[in-house]
Formats: sequence, C-alpha cells, structure tokens
Amino acid sequence: MKVLMVCLGNICRSPLAEGILQARANAAGLDWQVDSAGTANYHVGETPHKLSIKVAGEHGIDISKKRVRQLNKLDFTLFDKIYVMDKENYNGAKRIAGDSWDVSKIDYLLNETYLGENREVPDPWYGGYENFKEVYALLYEACGRILENKS
Ligand code: 4NP
Repeated sequence: MKVLMVCLGNICRSPLAEGILQARANAAGLDWQVDSAGTANYHVGETPHKLSIKVAGEHGIDISKKRVRQLNKLDFTLFDKIYVMDKENYNGAKRIAGDSWDVSKIDYLLNETYLGENREVPDPWYGGYENFKEVYALLYEACGRILENKS
C-alpha cells in the first residue's frame, strides 16, 4: 500500500500525517510506504515546520529528515491512495493531476473519521503550538481509521 498525504505547503499538516501513518503502519507490522507533498512549491527542499517537528517528536515520531516536495502528475500513478487536508488542496491536486486524475484514489483525510462530510484539517500555519497539537490529534485519529478500514 502506497499512501500520499497532501496539503498546501507540505510544511505543517501533510508531513505530520505522513509521520503518524508511517509510524502506525509500521507498528501494526504493515509494509506500507507513506509520503507527503504540497500542491504549492513555496517551500520545496525545506524541512517541516518546527512546531510539526516538535509535536511529532513529543509522540516519538521523527519527521526532521523530511524535505518538502511538490505534488506532481506521476503521483497519481505511483500511489494507491491520496489524502488531502482541505478543499483548496483537493482543487489544487485536481489541477496538477490533469488527465491522470482518478477520483477513486483521492479523498479528504477526515472522511476516514467523519464519512462523507468533507471536513477539513485546519491550517495551523498562522497559529501556534496549541493549533499544531489540535492538528496532531485530528491526524492521529484519522490515521487510526485508515488502518482499521484498510487492513
Ligand atoms: P500546510 O500549511 O499546507 O499545512 O503545510 C501551510 C504552509 C505554508 C503556507 C500555507 C500553509 N504558506 O502560505 O507558505
């Protein structure tokens, strides 16, 4: 199973989601490959946001080696499932995919927790530590549901 987590900057939300799902899949003994990407290219090559690194680290997950990359068309062939955090990401992913768009592969991550509601993971970019902790909790719950629903 190859899973790609997508947000806007690949700085705050999707690297955290990648780290959580990879850690939880590993802990469940599953041979899953998890990656993340952004629809925007603003931060390509950078490390995740320091508060994402901090919050992940508090849960024993090291995402400091991750480097930001932009989503590309080939991702829609390479990955089995692509999760977005919000509507803007969904629309951005659709634009990048072009004729590789496959609606069956892509979903809002929080639809794993709240089926069919298209709820969004709030962007903590302008927030602080508490916002990143709240995002972690939402992502942790959703990643647990992915494992329950898929394995
Ligand atoms: P992310 O958050 O999509 O969760 O990585 C953001 C990161 C950077 C920006 C916006 C959102 N930005 O405007 O640079």
